[in-house]
Amino acid sequence: MDARKIRQDFPILRIRHNGKQIAYLDNAATTQKPRSVINAVKEYYENYNANVHRGLNFLSQKATDKYEEAHEKTARLINAKNSAEIVFTKNATESLNLLAYSLGEKISEGDEILLTKMEHHANLVPWQELAKRKKAKLVFAGITREGKLDLEDFALKIGNRTKIVSVTQASNILGTINPVKRLAKEAKKNGAIFIIDAAQSVPHIKIDAKGTGADFMAFSAHKMLGPTGIGVLWGKEEMLGEMPPFLTGGDMISEVTFEKSTWNKLPWKFEAGTPNIAGAIGFGAAIDYLKKIGFAGIRAQEQRLLKYGLKRLSEINGVKLYGPKAGERTGIIAFNLNNVHPHDVAGILDENAVAIRSGNHCAQPLMNEMGIQGVARASFYIYNTPEEIDRLADGIIRAKKVFGV
Ligand SMILES: Cc1ncc(COP(=O)(O)O)c(C=O)c1O
Repeated sequence: MDARKIRQDFPILRIRHNGKQIAYLDNAATTQKPRSVINAVKEYYENYNANVHRGLNFLSQKATDKYEEAHEKTARLINAKNSAEIVFTKNATESLNLLAYSLGEKISEGDEILLTKMEHHANLVPWQELAKRKKAKLVFAGITREGKLDLEDFALKIGNRTKIVSVTQASNILGTINPVKRLAKEAKKNGAIFIIDAAQSVPHIKIDAKGTGADFMAFSAHKMLGPTGIGVLWGKEEMLGEMPPFLTGGDMISEVTFEKSTWNKLPWKFEAGTPNIAGAIGFGAAIDYLKKIGFAGIRAQEQRLLKYGLKRLSEINGVKLYGPKAGERTGIIAFNLNNVHPHDVAGILDENAVAIRSGNHCAQPLMNEMGIQGVARASFYIYNTPEEIDRLADGIIRAKKVFGV
């Protein structure tokens, strides 16, 4: 795969800031969009904009076909059993909130929900709220000094009170890839429901939802070339079938009287109201684009960038790197420069049109656990090049001079 060629498909990568071409290294926050995705959204609005599942008119039929095609493409992408298992939500956060709400009936006072200490707030706060509602207890598996999940601790923390286990497949800070298949087995041995926060994994590695042994998986289109405002909840059909809906109203009903209602078939039972039609169609185009490249190529390219980035940054005196070895993580490099605030490092890089992210990255408890306030984070995707990593390294060296460290 040739990143230079791929770049030509991304109009935004041509823009300049302070006279320099942008080096976009903030892909864990959101990715840029190729022309095919932008055009798919534009084409919907220009040529067949209509509501879905509503009309016999030809516009609505075409919109419905394309919207449903996106469900099917998503199902094939992650090896779901069928498109009934693919619920479109707003984002990974909404998918996890849906689960924390709709699985609530399975939780009683004193039950335990097992998470890890490396969760994004999206896979923590909804469970905190559920635990509060049901007087349940949150339990956390620890992490090693290297930034990996402590597997022994994880096994120890599962018990007969554990009803739900929800784990990130890839950390948005450390990049750590967790062995979800092994964790699912452990959870299932104890009869717990197993959920994967796949927001940072589906965009980067080939995922086999059925093969993981998990019950549910959540991710967002915008982190994998798709539009914002469209996310996915994958769930085993029989489990989704048993669960009560999260949001109610139009499109998710079968029959309604003044007294009561019955629910639509899956996945629409969980898609109340007019969905993000343009977003789903754009996501379908993003899936096509990624599949054309292939996930083996994507992973290999990210590993090359990651190894080069780790090498360049480890050569700079005063840079502290976080996270495990290259082969055990995604293309994310979290770092700090001596006692310089990560926002200040990001500010200097921004002056040079190198876009990274800084702060606590919606993982405040992990930052506390690591004894730091925040980190600077560079994260790579298919269009990044080693030259952009050189510019990242040059910017950090410049920050050293500016701050005299
Ligand atoms: C690991 C992880 N989980 C969940 C989310 C939430 O994704 P979204 O903001 O698209 O809902 C993110 C976003 O950064 C993430 O990195």
